[in-house]
Formats: sequence, structure tokens, C-alpha cells
Amino acid sequence: MKIKKILSGCQFLNIAAITLWLSGKSSLKKYLGICKLEYYNRKKLGLPVKKFFDLFPNCQNQQTTVKIIPEEITGGLTLLELQYLSSIVKCYPIKSIFEIGTFDGCASTHMMLNAQFPEQCSICTLDLPKNKTDNDFVYDPDNKGFLELRRPGYYINRYVPGNVTQLFGDSMEFDFSPYYESMDLVFIDGNHNKPFIQKDTKNALKMLKPSGFLLWHDYFGIPGEVVTDYLNQLSNNMQIIRIEKTCLVFYQKNE
Ligand SMILES: C[S@@+](CC[C@H](N)C(=O)[O-])C[C@H]1O[C@@H](n2cnc3c(N)ncnc32)[C@H](O)[C@@H]1O
Repeated sequence: MKIKKILSGCQFLNIAAITLWLSGKSSLKKYLGICKLEYYNRKKLGLPVKKFFDLFPNCQNQQTTVKIIPEEITGGLTLLELQYLSSIVKCYPIKSIFEIGTFDGCASTHMMLNAQFPEQCSICTLDLPKNKTDNDFVYDPDNKGFLELRRPGYYINRYVPGNVTQLFGDSMEFDFSPYYESMDLVFIDGNHNKPFIQKDTKNALKMLKPSGFLLWHDYFGIPGEVVTDYLNQLSNNMQIIRIEKTCLVFYQKNE
């Protein structure tokens, strides 16, 4: 797997990349990632892409400003992705949300802060029990450093205490049945390895109400990346669309 990743990165090596490599491994990885993404975007490979406002016309109103907390964003969403997520919750009558993968609670806090109906909006967010992170490492040792930074629910406790329900469990074993057919929006952003993303997707589809929205994070459009390959495959059976300029993929359940 590691060799495959190195070979795929080598396609984009150039003088700029080598200069970055000399100045530190982490900036090189980021640079190669951006080059790859741009390449696949230009080749128009992967899922169909749509502009955010074409997919979510209710959000077009220029008055729609979303609340963003004044702290550095963590958890992996870009500022644009966070704005889009907040905007969806603000502009559509979304009253029930389930997130798989809480991390610091950045996404769930923003959804709560921007909910169109804050008093009636219920957000549940699931993460591994505080002391259990091993199953991530088994499948994805590269993620270890990121997960060690985890401060479970930090933003929730700071900005929306008591308003977001934090659940603890492994999504592989968690009993989602009490939430079946009850969610307006499900956001999948947990473990990014195939058995997990597959199971999380199955559970998410069961949790959605008719017409409910499903969003996945971390679709990079790069062949060989697990979430990308999984969602490309899923698109043979379901109409799923990538939101332009983001790693978010969207699906709306049939009525
Ligand atoms: C990328 S972070 C989520 C970021 C968060 N959605 C946000 O935007 O603020 C992924 C999270 O998924 C959690 N996770 C990994 N495997 C999991 C599993 N099997 N069940 C539940 N959560 C899991 C990790 O502990 C980590 O906190």
C-alpha cells in the first residue's frame, strides 16, 4: 500500500516538489495531494460535479451568512466545506442530523449554531469511546498522528453545550436501529477504510427519512484513495454528486 502511494506521488514530482521535500516531509505531501487533485479535476475523472448553489438553490440568497466560530478549524473540513454544511442546515428545514465521526465537534457545532430551527433541531454525533482508537490504526497507521490530537467534542462543550448529543461507540458495532427513517441529514466522516465506510453508508441510508440528505467527506477524486474508490463504485447504483471545489459528496434519498 505504501509503495503504491509513493509511486502515485512520483507522477507529480518536479523541482518545486523536491524543494519542498528538502524543507520538510509534511508540506511535500500536501503539495502532491493538491497537484493530484487538480490533475484529476482537469481530466474530469471521477464523480459528476455540480456547483453548490445548483444543488442547493435555497442557499442562493445573498443574505445567508453563516456563523463561524473564531478558532482555528480542525477535523479536516475546509472553511468552504464548513460554510456549505452550515448553509445547508440554515436554508433547508433540517431538524434531525446524525454525524458519524465527531472529532473535536467542529462540524456538529457549526450545524447547531446555524440551524434554521435551533430549538427543534436535534444533532447526534458518534465517535469512538475516548480511550479507544486502535481500530483506526490497524487499517490506517498514517492517521495515527491526526487522531492523537483528538479532543472529543471540544467545540460542542465550548459553544453549544447540552445542545448536541455525543454518542460513543464503534460505528461497526453501534446499534443505529433507534434512528432508522428519522434523519433529515446524515454526515459520514468517521473511519475512512472500506469496511467502515461501507457499513456507515448502509446505516446512513437506513437512518434517512424520504428526501433526506446524505453527505460524505473526504472524496479526493484520486484513484487508489479508499473513499474515492468506494464512492465511484457506489455511483453505479446511486445518483451521487460531488460538490464543486470540495471533497463533499451528496445524495438525496427518494421520496
Ligand atoms: C475526520 S474526523 C471527523 C471530523 C468531524 N466530522 C469534523 O468535521 O469536525 C474522524 C473521526 O472519526 C472517528 N472514528 C474513527 N473510526 C470510527 C468508528 N469506527 N466509529 C466511530 N467513529 C470513528 C475518529 O475517532 C475521528 O474523531
